[in-house]
Amino acid sequence: MRYKSQSVAYWYFAVAMVLFGLQIVFGLLSAAKYLGPDPLLYILPFDVTKVIHTNLLIVWVLTGFMGATYWMVPDESRTEIHSVKLAYIQLALWVVMGVTAVIGYLFRYGTGNKLLEQPLPHKIVIVIVMLMFLYNIGMTIKKSGRFTTTEGVLLLGVAGAAVLYLPALLHYENYTVSIFYRWWTIHLWVEGVWEMIQGGFLAYLLIRLSGADREVMEKWLYVIVGLVFIAGILGTAHHYYWVGVPSYWLPIGGLFSALEPVALVAMSIYAYSAIRRSGMAHPNTLALHWTVGSALFTLFGAGLLGLAHTWPSVNKWTHGTLITAMHGHAAFYGAYAMIVMAMISYALPAMAPGRPEQGTKLGYWSFWLQLAGMFGMTLSFATAGIGQVYLERILGLGYLDAQLKIQVHFLMLIATASLFAVGVILFIVDFFRHAPRFELTTEPERTTRTAAGAAARA
Ligand code: HEM
Ligand code: HEM
Ligand SMILES: [Fe+2]
Repeated sequence: MRYKSQSVAYWYFAVAMVLFGLQIVFGLLSAAKYLGPDPLLYILPFDVTKVIHTNLLIVWVLTGFMGATYWMVPDESRTEIHSVKLAYIQLALWVVMGVTAVIGYLFRYGTGNKLLEQPLPHKIVIVIVMLMFLYNIGMTIKKSGRFTTTEGVLLLGVAGAAVLYLPALLHYENYTVSIFYRWWTIHLWVEGVWEMIQGGFLAYLLIRLSGADREVMEKWLYVIVGLVFIAGILGTAHHYYWVGVPSYWLPIGGLFSALEPVALVAMSIYAYSAIRRSGMAHPNTLALHWTVGSALFTLFGAGLLGLAHTWPSVNKWTHGTLITAMHGHAAFYGAYAMIVMAMISYALPAMAPGRPEQGTKLGYWSFWLQLAGMFGMTLSFATAGIGQVYLERILGLGYLDAQLKIQVHFLMLIATASLFAVGVILFIVDFFRHAPRFELTTEPERTTRTAAGAAARA
């Protein structure tokens, strides 16, 4: 740890870990309900457990993003955080918002707008928290006078995420209009500004872990982010096929969203070639696993499995089925859960002395169990989804009759999800195993191929 105020990140990460654990509990609960009979039907029905599962996901991933930003910005700008106190107040407000929202969902207090179910008072708190965060980070950079491209891309992503949350504050009676604007938040988050956040962390980690030249890494970062943006904005229309908007959205959505994987292929090549070209500059190979893993799993979950159902001729059949869940899990996990775990794995040894820099055995077990588990879950959702589409939409079976015929895939889902859950538990245990101790280090940065870097590597 080079700056005392970076310790703020630890508490954000700790909160993210607890919420991640809870998210998995509600995921398993939701999956168990596919099999029935459901003893909790009148207390915790499927819609409630699913809302809590997906909202906890968004909250813990955003908590991870905020913590990782508070870790990265001092490193990049070579300064302390503007206000540590504000960062803690922000975290406290955020936690209160998240916890009360979940309690509210238990009593059906929410807006019912998928993934944006937060009631209005909670939405306002979210906006306030975002503003506090942007102010604190903005002031930190302004005071330092040092602003890197990597940091700029991250900041654009974070500011974009805040701005794009604003359409979620509006309420429309007309369902088509409501859905139309809902995607301005959801789609433009996950296929636009959040990818900038992932890109910023990816560049930061690759520069430090591989020792690749900053100039080269940042130049490519521009290209990738530009590609994501161009394709992602009009790609929003791949959600407009069947919601009552004019039909010219069909070709626009199909074409532009099909271009999005090009940027994701570039991102994977970027990560892989950085490692190949530069070799290892840093002993933390566990963080490297998560970093490269995130780029590759994004290509699989978002690129390949997104492309699989993005054409109108396919989406006509698969829309809103378990095929969507297949892609949603793999994409979200690869792009956003894995990049947060990469940042945690990179930062943690500096905040919890006693933890080996190269990662622990438990850490590697967690990585591989999660990867195998999530891959299995993706396949289970995929096979269940194919069955569902065929039975329900081609043969015309009723929804529940079709669900009964695909039970075997739900058993496979629960088996692979249990494997995944063990991986998550190991990650959480590994996180909390070593008590935090915030000591400053005067060690030179092992980042670029400078004389200091070479000496540190020798
Ligand atoms: C990291 C990037 C991505 C993430 C995290 C992600 C996540 C998701 C999620 C959670 C949904 C369900 C949303 C809802 O119904 O409320 C969804 C839907 C969808 N995604 Fe993605 N996605 C990503 C990238 C992509 C890409 C690159 C493509 C296309 C090439 C794509 C194609 C689709 C399509 C077509 C749907 C609609 C499915 C339906 O009609 O039910 N996604 N995505
Ligand atoms: C033990 C692990 C998990 C289990 C058993 C599980 C199970 C489920 C189930 C049953 C649903 C409802 C799907 C439906 O509507 O029929 C769901 C939704 C969802 N889960 Fe998970 N989940 C797990 C972990 C995760 C993780 C780690 C992520 C992301 C990093 C995630 C992201 C999502 C998303 C985005 C949705 C909404 C999908 C959609 O809109 O179709 N889940 N999950
Ligand atoms: Fe989308």
